[in-house]
Amino acid sequence: LKKRLLGPCVTFFPQPATLIATRDNDGKVNLMMASWVGIVSKTPPTIAVSLHHNRKTLANILDTGVFSVNTVTSQIAAAADACGLVSGKRADKRLLTGLKIVPGVLEGTPLVAASTLNVECRYQRLVELGDYRLVMGEIAEIHACDRAFDDQGQGNVQVFDPLVYLGGLREYWSLGEKQGDAYRAGLAFLDQEEA
Ligand SMILES: Cc1cc2nc3c(=O)[nH]c(=O)nc-3n(C[C@H](O)[C@H](O)[C@H](O)COP(=O)(O)O)c2cc1C
Repeated sequence: LKKRLLGPCVTFFPQPATLIATRDNDGKVNLMMASWVGIVSKTPPTIAVSLHHNRKTLANILDTGVFSVNTVTSQIAAAADACGLVSGKRADKRLLTGLKIVPGVLEGTPLVAASTLNVECRYQRLVELGDYRLVMGEIAEIHACDRAFDDQGQGNVQVFDPLVYLGGLREYWSLGEKQGDAYRAGLAFLDQEEA
């Protein structure tokens, strides 16, 4: 492939499109669009979210010690985008978008009802990265859309419908076709080596 240099920017994709749900000390819910999100440890199960230091979401997490990471589906894409356009310091994004909130298992954790996956976290620690704070949350529970599972417990990706965000292109996309089975598609190469 012939390449062009884009310089030291943050163009990278895919990124998960998520909503971070938090509460302030008065119990008021805030929702923020975030795509700099990823699983960073299995033992213990940990998710990391990179937040600019001035986000209301960061203040809420440090105040209450809990937060949730919620998938953005096509059904709530526009509402979720609105949660990336204005700060909770200036607007009540729950009222603005009409997104419904349900409680999690940890006290005070708000979950987005319409999200097909809610990752409920306890704040663990933070790493300073210039203007950003990489916030680590230990996963306490995952709430997965029940109707996405068949009788064998196999999840249906089309029901989960997680949108991806293309950083740099500034677009949300749905997933396309399945391309292979992870931890299996590569086995053919290993067999070849052994032969
Ligand atoms: C697609 C998209 C992805 C975003 N990802 C992040 C992110 O990962 N971290 C961040 O700090 N801000 C991110 N933002 C910006 C915040 O969502 C935005 O500044 C928001 O108003 C902050 O809300 P808050 O102050 O209520 O926490 C993103 C915005 C959009 C539209």
